[in-house]
Amino acid sequence: MATMTCIEDLRGRARRRVPKMFFDYAEAGSYAEETLRANRTDLERIKLRQRILVDVSQRDLATTIIGEKVPLPLALGPVGLTGMQHRDGEIAACRAAQAAGIPFTLSTMSVCSIEDVASSVDKPFWFQLYVMKDRGFVRSLVERAAAAKCSALMLTIDLQVLGQRHCDVRNGLSVPPEIKIRNVIDIATKPRWALGMLMGKRKTFGNLAGYARAGTDVSSLASWISTQFDPALSWRDVEWIRSLWPGKLILKGVLDVDDARIAATTGASTLVVSNHGGRQLDGAPSSISALPKIADAVGNEIEVMFDGGIRSGQDLMRALALGARSCLIGRAYIYGLAAGGQSGVAQAIEFIRKELDVTMALCGVNSVGEIGRQVLASG
Ligand SMILES: Cc1cc2nc3c(=O)[nH]c(=O)nc-3n(C[C@H](O)[C@H](O)[C@H](O)COP(=O)(O)O)c2cc1C
Repeated sequence: MATMTCIEDLRGRARRRVPKMFFDYAEAGSYAEETLRANRTDLERIKLRQRILVDVSQRDLATTIIGEKVPLPLALGPVGLTGMQHRDGEIAACRAAQAAGIPFTLSTMSVCSIEDVASSVDKPFWFQLYVMKDRGFVRSLVERAAAAKCSALMLTIDLQVLGQRHCDVRNGLSVPPEIKIRNVIDIATKPRWALGMLMGKRKTFGNLAGYARAGTDVSSLASWISTQFDPALSWRDVEWIRSLWPGKLILKGVLDVDDARIAATTGASTLVVSNHGGRQLDGAPSSISALPKIADAVGNEIEVMFDGGIRSGQDLMRALALGARSCLIGRAYIYGLAAGGQSGVAQAIEFIRKELDVTMALCGVNSVGEIGRQVLASG
C-alpha cells in the first residue's frame, strides 16, 4: 500500500474509500465555492521568512488552548456526519485527538451521540452547539454536554440559515444513503466502508434520534433539522447560552472586526475566526485575510482561534504568525478518518505536528510563543 506523507495523500485515499456522496459533502463549499478556494489561495500566498544559523535545538510546540495544556496549538473542529466517513467516526477521531493530547469537538450534527462518545473515551471533549428554534431542545443539549463533562461549549454563530452546497443537492445527500441504483453501485465499490458501517453503532444523527418532537425515522429527522436553524438568532441568545453554560464558551464563526468586538464583551473565553470552511457565505473573505484585523482589534481581550484551509504545519505557522493562538482543522482530519479511521486521524495530526516543527526550525524559532509577524517574508 502507498506510503502516506501528507494530508493530500490522505485525501486521495479518502476519495477512493468513501462513497462519493460523503466525500463530496466533506470537500465542498457553498455556491460557486469562491470563499472555499480563497481560504486556500490566500494561505498559500503568505510567504514564510527563512532564517539561518539560529540555534533551534530546543524547539517546543507546547502551548495552552483555553487554559488546557496541549503539545501543539491545534484542535479538531466540529464536523457534522463524521460518522459517515468511517464507522463510529466521532469516537475514532476523539480517541486519536486525545492520544495526541489535543481537544476534539463533537458537532451537534454528529452520528455518534454525546453519550456514545463520552462512554468511549477517557478524557473530556468539547461540544459544538447549534441554537435551534426549539429552545427546549437546545437547553437539553447543553444539559447533556454538561452531564457528559464536556470541557468547553463551542457555539457556532454563522449558521442562522444554511448555505447551499450544490453537490449535496445533486447527490441527494441523505443519512443513511437512499437505496438508489446510483448509490448502490457506488457503495458496492467501497466494500471496506460498507462493511465498517454495518458494524458501527449508529447510522443517523445520534444527538437528535429519540428526541420526541423530531420523530425517529431519518426523513422526519432531516426535515426537522432543515426547519430548525433559526434566522432570528441574536446576541441575546448568546447571553442566554452563557447563562445555561457557566463553563468555557467558544464563539465560532466570526469574520468581521465589529462582530469580534461584540464577541469580546460576551464573557466567552475564545472566538474562532472562521467562515465555516467556505460552506456558508460565498463571496465572504478568506478566513486568513480576516484574521490579522480581528487579532489586532480584540486579541488582548479574548483568545483568538482560527480555522479555514489548514492542510499543513506551514499553514498553521501562517495563522499563528497572523495572530491566532491556536487553530482548528476540519477537512484535514476528516481525510485521515476516511482514509484510515483512528490511525488515519492520528497520521493527519502527526503530519501537521512534524511540519510545524520543521517550519519553526527553518524560520528560526524555538517556541510557539515566539511566533509573530517576524516569521513572515512580507513582515
Ligand atoms: C463536512 C463538514 C461539516 C461541518 N460541520 C460543522 C458543524 O456541524 N458545526 C460547525 O460548527 N462547523 C462545521 N463545519 C465547519 C468546521 O468546523 C470548520 O470551520 C471548517 O471545516 C474549517 O475549514 P477546513 O475544513 O478547511 O479546515 C463543517 C465543515 C465540514 C468540512
